[in-house]
Amino acid sequence: LKLNVHKTTEQAITAAARLIADLVAIRPNAVLGLATGGTMEPLYTRLVEFHRAGLSFRRVRTVNLDEYVGLAPDHPNSYHSYMQRHFFDHVDIPEDAIHIPRGDVEPDRAAAEYSALLDRVGPVDLQLLGIGANGHIGFNEPGTPVNAPTRVVDLLPDTISANARFFTAEEQVPSQAVTMGTAAILAARSVLALATGPAKAESLAAALDGAISPDCPASYLRLHPSCTIIADRTAGARLG
Ligand code: F6R
Repeated sequence: LKLNVHKTTEQAITAAARLIADLVAIRPNAVLGLATGGTMEPLYTRLVEFHRAGLSFRRVRTVNLDEYVGLAPDHPNSYHSYMQRHFFDHVDIPEDAIHIPRGDVEPDRAAAEYSALLDRVGPVDLQLLGIGANGHIGFNEPGTPVNAPTRVVDLLPDTISANARFFTAEEQVPSQAVTMGTAAILAARSVLALATGPAKAESLAAALDGAISPDCPASYLRLHPSCTIIADRTAGARLG
């Protein structure tokens, strides 16, 4: 595992964006595993800047980690909308190369279809991950085993509270999601996890210095043969 702690958030974001851009330059038809959330917003902004400076994503294929159950793609809080707004609307990835679980069909069916799709499109060349303040990756919450399949999950109360900031009220945050499982995440050829801000200091320390355990699914990243973790100084503040 490679750990790079940068002085500022901006430096961390730029380093992560460079890593993705370098991969796409070397392997233009890469399969990118993408994440959403606050951490990734400035990363997509930077990738859009790289695109405007000449980087093409024309042959890339993408698979997103997760989607809320109950939100249609055009719902403003769906991860479909998030990805359009922050990234896909601004780059040249063809629409049919973009894959995100469906939030608006029967959830078990959406998960089974997404699992089959990952088998067809994969392996993922680079899986981008944020880390939850509770140590989740994707929506694999604490308690998830290392080999969990792509499935429907119940979100824990702390995840619902953490994500309420994107909604007008906490009651509007869906209670379930379809998520890529830990097995599929760890099957990626390489993993890039990004953690910025003081809210991640504890979970990052648990992930890297604590036990490899279902209590902190991010600790499974230490089992991956090619994982890079990029953090800013505040997220890295509790590392040993
Ligand atoms: C997003 C995802 C989540 C987030 C994590 C951190 O697709 O699967 O695991 O990466 O919850 O979210 P932020 O960046 O909002 O702190």
